Amino acid sequence: MQTSSSQRHIFPTSDAAAQAVAAHIISTVKAKPNAVLGLATGATMEPVYAHLIAAYKRGDVRFSDVSTFNLDEYAGLAPSDPGSYRSTMDRLFFDHVDIDKTKTFLPEASLDASAAAGNDYEAMIIQAGGIDLQLLGIGRNGHIGFNEPGSAIDSRTRLVELHEDTLAANARFFDGGKVPGSAITMGIGTILSAREIVVLATGAAKADAVRDAHCGSFSPDCPASALQTHNHVLWFLDSAAASTRFAA
Ligand code: GLP
Repeated sequence: MQTSSSQRHIFPTSDAAAQAVAAHIISTVKAKPNAVLGLATGATMEPVYAHLIAAYKRGDVRFSDVSTFNLDEYAGLAPSDPGSYRSTMDRLFFDHVDIDKTKTFLPEASLDASAAAGNDYEAMIIQAGGIDLQLLGIGRNGHIGFNEPGSAIDSRTRLVELHEDTLAANARFFDGGKVPGSAITMGIGTILSAREIVVLATGAAKADAVRDAHCGSFSPDCPASALQTHNHVLWFLDSAAASTRFAA
């Protein structure tokens, strides 16, 4: 097991935290223009992408040589479905910058190809040289990617059933429609293989999950607690998500 080393940065507002995450991503890409980025979806990430687009439009950063691997994708949704994470990434980020879309990857999420699709995704990440920086949000129940409570610390990309709490939390992205009940997600082990992990959590609804992620050692009840075993994790929190334990 690796030595745990994490840093926490706490900001007064969610936007300040998102801006700091964007600045960190930009410095990574400037230092390594062909960086392999692990990307995340969720409302928390929307201001990060907005700041990255603004920086690109100012001429501060280019994404043309970057490759990206998203954490997860709903199973059974066509990429063109507005609820798919492919559509979401196009709409929120890829369509607005100079990224080469042939180097942007999400797990292949047809229901019938799931087992092979997981292995293929792992192989593609290795082929790309591994993930330099994995951007990560956290679910209210402590999930990372779509690794729900009970996921194994060495799990890899696979088909998973979504927890009731996740279905309820994500219903807002489906305009009254039904959230798909399963997804293909990088495993906890896949996430831990990234060279650096940058976690962004904002809002009071995440405070308990953030606290549990830092308590004791790994517990399958809080998948994010696995991050304690990684040697390079940066947490970016707003004051609402930071438990009193971390308040300055
Ligand atoms: C989603 C995603 C996660 C994300 C989390 C939080 O279900 N699969 O990768 O981190 O839940 O989402 P939000 O930022 O909308 O709270």
